[in-house]
Amino acid sequence: MCVRRSPPNMTLLGGCLHRLANFNLKVILPIVLLLYFYVQMKNGVPCEAEVEPICERQSTDGASASQTMAEIMHDDGHFPYKDEEALRIEMQAGRPRCDCPEPPDWLKPVNKRRIEEGKKWEEQKKKLRDPLSMCKAMSPLSYVGSGITVEPYQLVPIIGLSLHPYIEQLLPDMNTDIILQISSTKRLGKPRLSKKIYEIEKDSQHFSVSGEGTYVLKLNFKKNIKLLKEILNNNILYSSDNYELDVRDKLQLTFIEFTVDIYVHIRREPLPDLYDPGERNAITDKVTVITKTFERYDALDKFVSSIHTFYPNLTIIIADDSEFPKPIKKNHVKYYIMPFREGSFPGKNLALSQVRTKYVLFMDDDMFFTNETNLEVMLEKLEDQNIDMDINCGLVNNLAKLRGLRNIAYNDTQGYCNMGPFSPPNRQVPGYPQCMWGEMFIFFCMAKTAVLRKIGAYPQIVPAAHEEAWIDTIGKAKSAFCEDSSVTHTHYRNNKYDKYRWETEQLMPRNPMAFFENNICYWWSYYQFPGVNKTDLKVKSPFE
Ligand SMILES: *[C@@H]1O[C@H](CO)[C@@H](O)[C@H](O)[C@H]1NC(C)=O
Ligand SMILES: *[C@@H]1O[C@H](CO)[C@@H](O)[C@H](O)[C@H]1NC(C)=O
Ligand SMILES: *[C@@H]1O[C@H](CO)[C@@H](O)[C@H](O)[C@H]1NC(C)=O
Ligand SMILES: *[C@@H]1O[C@H](CO)[C@@H](O)[C@H](O)[C@H]1NC(C)=O
Repeated sequence: MCVRRSPPNMTLLGGCLHRLANFNLKVILPIVLLLYFYVQMKNGVPCEAEVEPICERQSTDGASASQTMAEIMHDDGHFPYKDEEALRIEMQAGRPRCDCPEPPDWLKPVNKRRIEEGKKWEEQKKKLRDPLSMCKAMSPLSYVGSGITVEPYQLVPIIGLSLHPYIEQLLPDMNTDIILQISSTKRLGKPRLSKKIYEIEKDSQHFSVSGEGTYVLKLNFKKNIKLLKEILNNNILYSSDNYELDVRDKLQLTFIEFTVDIYVHIRREPLPDLYDPGERNAITDKVTVITKTFERYDALDKFVSSIHTFYPNLTIIIADDSEFPKPIKKNHVKYYIMPFREGSFPGKNLALSQVRTKYVLFMDDDMFFTNETNLEVMLEKLEDQNIDMDINCGLVNNLAKLRGLRNIAYNDTQGYCNMGPFSPPNRQVPGYPQCMWGEMFIFFCMAKTAVLRKIGAYPQIVPAAHEEAWIDTIGKAKSAFCEDSSVTHTHYRNNKYDKYRWETEQLMPRNPMAFFENNICYWWSYYQFPGVNKTDLKVKSPFE
């Protein structure tokens, strides 16, 4: 029978253990742990009444009851945890899904190649995803499941390891050696001990190590609990010994029949892309305007002169693929001539590649600045580190406002479906009631140059595509629309411009390039999918 002493719980259970000392610890430990947590749960309730019967039952009629508990909790690989892939499938059940339609004729020639390339990309993506770090019940060790990071060929201590205080009390009663095994399951690095430990324990009778220099390190502490605690305290190291940029190794620590997984993130940290904002804190040192133009010189003249009316020394970069280019020769205007009809996205890339400032303002050549164009307020938000805004779009007078996020559905084998816009609540930018987060606006936007360069524009898309450019920003930039700065849009038309524009607009609904780039099997808007009803493509989630 267990008699309560004070302080209560620990001593009580310790007493129980003494009586059960002839049992194998492997069987007893889970029971004791269960009991311990049970008592913890019943905190404040006198222990005699609640706990005693359990102790009695275990000590008298131990074998069968403890057998069952051991079966439930004993962790030797039969522990009833689901494997990572099974858990991931459960987790993804709430994701928007779609059935891919049969590709229309115009999409067929590239569809198979797209799916092949998409599979390779998915495989690559798997390497980068966060592991599911399973935290097991009743672990004798506290540990950091994920977040430990090391550069290739460097060392990192396995931080955060400690014994459960109750286990610490139990260990002296254990009738076997205390063994801790650490193994690298992906073999991207090796577990080892810090030098300090070898210095202390060189010729110890009470400690032995095997597997040094291999992927499995085994430490036998005999009964040396003090050393065990010392080693757990940042003296187990992981030594990365492969060249990798961004992968994860899984360390398995086995300690008195329990195994815990610790993920080590091996990551070569990229250096930043910093831009000097200049000494004067002047907007002209921080922002460059870029545009792509084609056969619209009257629009372009107004574009340049309006910008320099309100911001005299702002650098303007123009990429032009007109047939007979007429470069604008003015201070602070950089003019780049491209092959005839080279395309809109290639032009954006060219202009962007020449930007030397931290921020870039991009807009169409048929827009112009007014006294309501306020670059300072756009810049203020991009510089506000509380909101991490990457792209800030303003109002364009005379054009419809665009809002909302893009609804992307997933298909396991055939790519993604672009299902159109959706407007979730809570899109207001904190601290800026005039701003809303979103994933598609009219192009009058200021952006962080480094972010926009990484997104780029897919040069295979030749016509002035709009949604295609925004789809490229998904997950790569945080964008918002704010009503506190505007430009005005005018329709400039001429026969030559109209002719080429009409031509590309005819081709666009059957252009497979954006499908290829983003591994998309269906696109809701103007792409032609004869006989396909978008509603029918949606797969209902089990939670709806
Ligand atoms: C993917 O699309 C194919 C073709 O429509 C369909 O048979 C399959 O069930 C879809 N898979 C998912 C996970 O929606
Ligand atoms: C523009 O630059 C010129 C010299 O290039 C300078 O004299 C002038 O003050 C600048 N204007 C503004 C508004 O910064
Ligand atoms: C801009 O100019 C218009 C008239 O041209 C005026 O009504 C308006 O108040 C001005 N706005 C600002 C911000 O100065
Ligand atoms: C698409 O299908 C849904 C139901 O499956 C139907 O309600 C809707 O009217 C259809 N739309 C068109 C344009 O056929």
